[in-house]
Amino acid sequence: MARKDLLDIASLHREEIEFLLDQSTSFKKLFTHSVKKIPALEGKSVLMLFYEASTRTHSSFEVAAKRLSAEVTNFDVAHSSITKGESVRETIETLQAMRTDYIVVRHSHPGLPGMIARQTTASVINAGDGAHEHPTQALLNAFTIKEKFPDPKGKKVLIIGDILHSRVARSTSTLLQKLGVEVAYLGPGSLVPKYIPESIRRFTDYEAAMAWAPDVVYLLRVQMERQDVQYFPSVREYHRVYGITTARLAEIRQRGLYIMHPGPVNRGVELADAVMDYERSLITNQVENGISIRMAVLDWLTPGGEFPRQESYAARQRAGSALLTP
Ligand code: CP
Repeated sequence: MARKDLLDIASLHREEIEFLLDQSTSFKKLFTHSVKKIPALEGKSVLMLFYEASTRTHSSFEVAAKRLSAEVTNFDVAHSSITKGESVRETIETLQAMRTDYIVVRHSHPGLPGMIARQTTASVINAGDGAHEHPTQALLNAFTIKEKFPDPKGKKVLIIGDILHSRVARSTSTLLQKLGVEVAYLGPGSLVPKYIPESIRRFTDYEAAMAWAPDVVYLLRVQMERQDVQYFPSVREYHRVYGITTARLAEIRQRGLYIMHPGPVNRGVELADAVMDYERSLITNQVENGISIRMAVLDWLTPGGEFPRQESYAARQRAGSALLTP
C-alpha cells in the first residue's frame, strides 16, 4: 500500500486516504507527550524545496520531519544557483547526487513535482504546484472535518471564493467527495471555472448557497498574486458579496456552522476580524493538524530506487513497538 510519491489527491484511493487520516490520529496523540519525537525516520533526510512563499506548509513539514527524527535541509532558492540561471532539471540532478530521501516541493508550475519525482529516487511530496494540487492541505482539511464529524458521509461543505486559482479547492473537493461529502462552490462567475464536475453544486448567490444548508463554510484566500486581470470590482465589494461579514457571522453562529480557511487570511476580504474569534472557527485546528497529517505522509511514503524499502512506522507499532502509546 505504500507509495514512493504524493503528487495529487486524484490518484489516491479511498483506503489510502482513510489510512493516512487514521495514522494522523495516532501521531496527533504524541503532541501531548513530554517527548514528542519518535525515531520513525532516523537516518533519513528531507529536503525542503520551496520556490514560492509559505508559512504553514513549510513550517509544519519541517516540524513533522523533525518529530520523526529525520534530518531536514532547507534549500535556499533565493541564494542558490537558480538565481544564476540554473534550470530546475540541473537543480534536481544536483539534489539527486546528494541522495536525499524525501523532497518536499512547492512551485508555481503545475506538474513540476511530478517531473522531479520521475527524475529522482527520493520520495517527492507536492506542497502546492500552481493552481493544480495541494494534497497535504486537502488531507489536513479532511482530518479537521472528521474530528467534528467522525462519519462525514452526507455532510455538506460550501467552498467560497477564488476557485479558479485554487489548488486547495481542487484537492479538497476531490478528497471530500471520495469520503462521500457533498461539495458546493460559491464565487463570482469570473472566479469559478466554467467547467466543474457535475457532482459539485455551483452557486453565485450567498443566500442561495446558505439555503443549501452547509455544515462547513470553507473560505478560500483571494490570490491577488495570481490575478493578472481584475476579477471583481473591488475588495470592498467582494467582502460585501462573498465574505463572511460581521452580520453574516451572527447567522452562521445561530446555525452552528463551522468555518475553515487554509490561510493566510486576508482580513476584511474573505473574513471580518470577528470571525477569527468565532468559537466554531477551525482555522487554528487546521494549522495544528497539518503537523500530524504531514507526519503520516512522510512515514507512509517509501523512498525508491536503491534506498531500502521502509516499513511504515505505524505498521511496526502494530507489530509490537510501544513507542506510540502514551
Ligand atoms: N495553506 C497554505 O498552503 O499556507 P502557506 O502558503 O502558508 O503554506
